[in-house]
Amino acid sequence: KDEKYKLLESKNNEALKGGGEARIEAQHGKGKLTARERIDLLLDEGSFEEIGKFVMHRCKDFGLDKQYYLGDGVVTGYGTVNGRLIYVFSQDFTVFGGSLSETHAEKIVKIMELAMKNGAPLIGLNDSGGARIQEGVVSLGGYADIFYRNTRASGVIPQISAIMGPCAGGAVYSPAITDFILMVENTSYMFVTGPNVVKTVTQEDVSAEELGGASTHSTKSGVTHFSCANEVECINNIKALLSYMPQNCEDDAPMVAYESKADEKVPSLNNIIPDNPNQPYDMREVIEGIVDEDSFMEVHKNFADNIVVGFARIAGRSIGVVGNQPASLAGVLDIDASTKGARFVRFCDCFNIPLLVLEDVPGFLPGTDQEWNAIITNGAKLLYAFSEATVPRITVITRKAYGGAYDVMNSKHIGADMNYAWPMAEIAVMGAKGASEIIFRKEISEAKDPEAKLQEKVDEYTEKFANPYRAAHRGYIDEVIMPEDTRSKLIKAFKMLENKVDTLPKKKHGNIPL
Ligand code: COA
Repeated sequence: KDEKYKLLESKNNEALKGGGEARIEAQHGKGKLTARERIDLLLDEGSFEEIGKFVMHRCKDFGLDKQYYLGDGVVTGYGTVNGRLIYVFSQDFTVFGGSLSETHAEKIVKIMELAMKNGAPLIGLNDSGGARIQEGVVSLGGYADIFYRNTRASGVIPQISAIMGPCAGGAVYSPAITDFILMVENTSYMFVTGPNVVKTVTQEDVSAEELGGASTHSTKSGVTHFSCANEVECINNIKALLSYMPQNCEDDAPMVAYESKADEKVPSLNNIIPDNPNQPYDMREVIEGIVDEDSFMEVHKNFADNIVVGFARIAGRSIGVVGNQPASLAGVLDIDASTKGARFVRFCDCFNIPLLVLEDVPGFLPGTDQEWNAIITNGAKLLYAFSEATVPRITVITRKAYGGAYDVMNSKHIGADMNYAWPMAEIAVMGAKGASEIIFRKEISEAKDPEAKLQEKVDEYTEKFANPYRAAHRGYIDEVIMPEDTRSKLIKAFKMLENKVDTLPKKKHGNIPL
């Protein structure tokens, strides 16, 4: 009997060593942690339960019949993060470069299915040389098995992917389908085809980092939502993200204990909007003045910064915030801002996270670049995402709400529950100058002093439309409020809406303009 116990112990020890000391050292030498060290950082101490520790590959080709490692290059299992159940897979680069074999894929699929059936988030820690080259098509089949389940799980359980090493070729499509991607600066990259293939096909000389590093994907492509300075920051971001989310689509996000104050007035909000309506300000200041202290977690911070999105809490309740950003491109909506906003809105709606929209938008960005790259289709995504959302939805118009963008930004007409405006709000088809130049063109050109005439008309238009009252008379705005009262109004309104029931018409699924 003792021998049998010893055998188990030695197998357990062997599995913990992954690809061996030398390769672990090489991994550390690159500034990277091992698969197991990452799991230890992510999960509550002692909570990890491993599944499939002794799994081995079945390949007999190209010498693999002489190379076996227990676990086959991925550590999988479940555990808790801040006491809440999650499932995790962590690819082990020290074993065949973390490459994905048939059995490696089966291990991931097993925990994906458990995560789906038991309704808990799936976290993938990716660090892999891609498909196990020696295995050929069975490895590709393994990828497809994962992609298929990522898609099936989408909207059922939150899925988060951290890229902590290579992630190339087909491997990129699992993270791409998940809800959030985090990348570690300088040690991770993602691309469909690497620098060598790029050089052959397009003659471009580009490094792996430049082609698909964290900085590229957080700024240029928007593929990644978070660019993290190191692995510890990356894992801390995963934990923080989870804290705003429910376990699954039938659950609510956890409430954080909050001590309500007798007076929730925030006088500093009265001073954020500049007197000159063409002057910028930072919408983040407005967000921070409204939500619980230090609760705002910005998502997609470096991409399309003319729109700000992120999670926050208000009186302990998790919410998703979408704000136009007047400090960048005057807060216009363009293609990137629309897709960024739409994806975030859809995530929140999937997982019962109420939405707060802070609106200061002069319209959509004009130009051939935007039109030829389909601002029509892409802008429609944001409109569609809001219109389809059944979670509690509140809008506060802080300043401009012009043109079609007024409709798009969670207006009453597309199903928002509560719409507020600050006294300096301007809700109109377009800015007073542009409007006057069009509708009074003849009158202005025929005037003795066209400049003075234009100004007279601008003043007239401004007085009539550059305010929130026309919309409030119609009930499109439920209340015009002082900025300092915004927080207390929102606390009450989100509480009032907490049992909201709204269902979409029966359908297979909608057809969002992609
Ligand atoms: N299949 C099988 N083994 C792989 C592998 C793969 N896809 N990718 C890496 N490995 C193995 C290497 O043979 C090496 O094994 P060893 O430790 O026994 O020598 C080990 O993993 C580490 O790889 P190495 O190339 O030494 O690491 P690196 O950090 O220098 O480079 C990559 C990492 C990912 C850039 C490089 O390994 C690579 O280009 N891999 C192939 C990528 C690919 O084309 N994948 C298939 C298409 S999806």
